[in-house]
Amino acid sequence: MRKTYGRIVAVDEVSFDVHEGEIFGLIGPNGAGKTTTMECVEGLRRPDRGTISVLGLDPFRDVYQLQERIGVQLQQAHLQKRIKVWEAAHLWATLYKKPASVGDVLLEQLGLAEKRNAWFMTLSGGQQQRLFIALALINDPQVVFLDELTTGLDPQSRRTIWELVRGIRARGKTVFMTTHLMEEAERLCDLVAIIEQGRIIDIDTPQRLIDRHVPGRTVVLVTQDPLAEERFRALPHADTVSRAGDEFSILGRGDGFVTEVIQCLAEHQMRVSDFRTALPNLEDVFITLTGHSIRD
Ligand SMILES: Nc1ncnc2c1ncn2[C@@H]1O[C@H](COP(=O)(O)OP(=O)(O)O)[C@@H](O)[C@H]1O
Ligand SMILES: [Mg+2]
Repeated sequence: MRKTYGRIVAVDEVSFDVHEGEIFGLIGPNGAGKTTTMECVEGLRRPDRGTISVLGLDPFRDVYQLQERIGVQLQQAHLQKRIKVWEAAHLWATLYKKPASVGDVLLEQLGLAEKRNAWFMTLSGGQQQRLFIALALINDPQVVFLDELTTGLDPQSRRTIWELVRGIRARGKTVFMTTHLMEEAERLCDLVAIIEQGRIIDIDTPQRLIDRHVPGRTVVLVTQDPLAEERFRALPHADTVSRAGDEFSILGRGDGFVTEVIQCLAEHQMRVSDFRTALPNLEDVFITLTGHSIRD
């Protein structure tokens, strides 16, 4: 699909499949086209060209049918300041012709039971997001859309939300989410599509993206052995050895590289006061693919 706003090409020739029961993540920096893509899939915006099929329906033509079967949490979501948590849940249940008890069960499951009588404006960021998840689940949807769900939350609330999203998958639902947080995508998503400037630059599982684009492993260790540098440089799979005082960072290739370093230490009976490995992550994939960090 392609979607322009006047002269701005927000999404260009984007194409992907999301499989049933998986957490699919569209990841990329601000302005990459994540929300535009997601809102076209939800039927909220109409692409200029291309075709989209969700549960066999056309999101634009069959929007009312589709709304019954999907749940949506928007990036910019607000409720009335003084609506109470239980009122919002019951209102949403009414909209989908569900009994109010469905809302109560979800508030319980999302840890909002003791906030039932609280006004929306008094909830913390994490509580507001949990309420939005509850509302997105009220019609028992088959596909749930979550747009930048944890942006602005503290690490603790973020972890709670990640557990909730895994719980949605565990109930057999499909999750389509966006995030600009690489750690979030890596921990949560089964499949990720990296989008930049309206184009998807790669799609795969987080681990396969890492293995394909940044196969290196880094070993960081501290030793005072005078021959250390020389020995590390001689390792068959070491690419670079850098040093800061007694701390060495050795970047190498292949699954056996870490073992190779350990064998070298053992063979020469080198004393080591610290040893750790740093595995590459999705952030490194993004840098490799685009030449810059996602935060730039
Ligand atoms: N309603 C709109 N009108 C004009 N430009 C828009 C509109 N919505 C988004 N854009 C532009 O489209 C591009 C993609 O935006 P968006 O889909 O919101 O990206 P993301 O969600 O990845 O941050 C940006 O350049 C943004 O400024
Ligand atoms: Mg967005």
